[in-house]
Amino acid sequence: MRVPFIAGNWKMHKSIAEGVAFIEAVKDQVAGTQVEVAVCAPYILLQDLVKAAKGTNVKIAAQNMHFEDFGAYTGEVSAAMLKEIGVTHVVIGHSERRQYFAETDETVNKKVIKALKEDLVPIMCIGELLEEREAGTEKDVVKGQLLKGLEGVLADQLSTVVIAYEPVWAIGTGKTASADDANDMIAFIRQTLAAVYNDEVSEEVRIQYGGSVKPSNIEEIMNMSDIDGALVGGASLKAEDFVQLVNF
Ligand code: PGA
Repeated sequence: MRVPFIAGNWKMHKSIAEGVAFIEAVKDQVAGTQVEVAVCAPYILLQDLVKAAKGTNVKIAAQNMHFEDFGAYTGEVSAAMLKEIGVTHVVIGHSERRQYFAETDETVNKKVIKALKEDLVPIMCIGELLEEREAGTEKDVVKGQLLKGLEGVLADQLSTVVIAYEPVWAIGTGKTASADDANDMIAFIRQTLAAVYNDEVSEEVRIQYGGSVKPSNIEEIMNMSDIDGALVGGASLKAEDFVQLVNF
């Protein structure tokens, strides 16, 4: 059985004080959920959030990392540095990083491999652009991102990886993919993994949907057969909304 996983992606929002207050505000209200819960925060907040979340079921995730262990990479943070401060998960290849920070399938792949090596759970984001969906190529695009991102990941490592399917046209736009369309793509991702790896491991991998998820649509999304959770941007910023999402 796959444990559902709901993660808030704060992007470049919140001060340290605001982040800590958020954890304090939600921790008791999310304590009873059967869902795995995480917040993905800017680097500078992570250490304080790990402390604030100690003893709770809220996991703390980074939004990016570098794929090298160390070196002359000004401005970058390694997987080991995240691990050292108690971060457990890391978002890799978010579409905003692909769009604005030259992230490619190749860098995504290197980061996924490194995260696994350091025992961090990679949340690998994939998803098509609007033009690609309009051209009917969305499945080819998503399959390409999926397989390139996972190159070299072994079958026994795959169940650790979380995939986030986020159609780019649905992120921050208020346009959600219909629950059926999202489920259809996520089922396709699972079939692709079954073909490349095996049925057993493809049934273990958790695949989230992301793109304008909010308290009013979370239940419908979570009720779909293949969707195992959500990566939530805008609606994860308010404590009361986050509590509703997690207790959908
Ligand atoms: P959104 O963002 O929920 O604000 O659409 C989702 C994401 O970027 O992960």
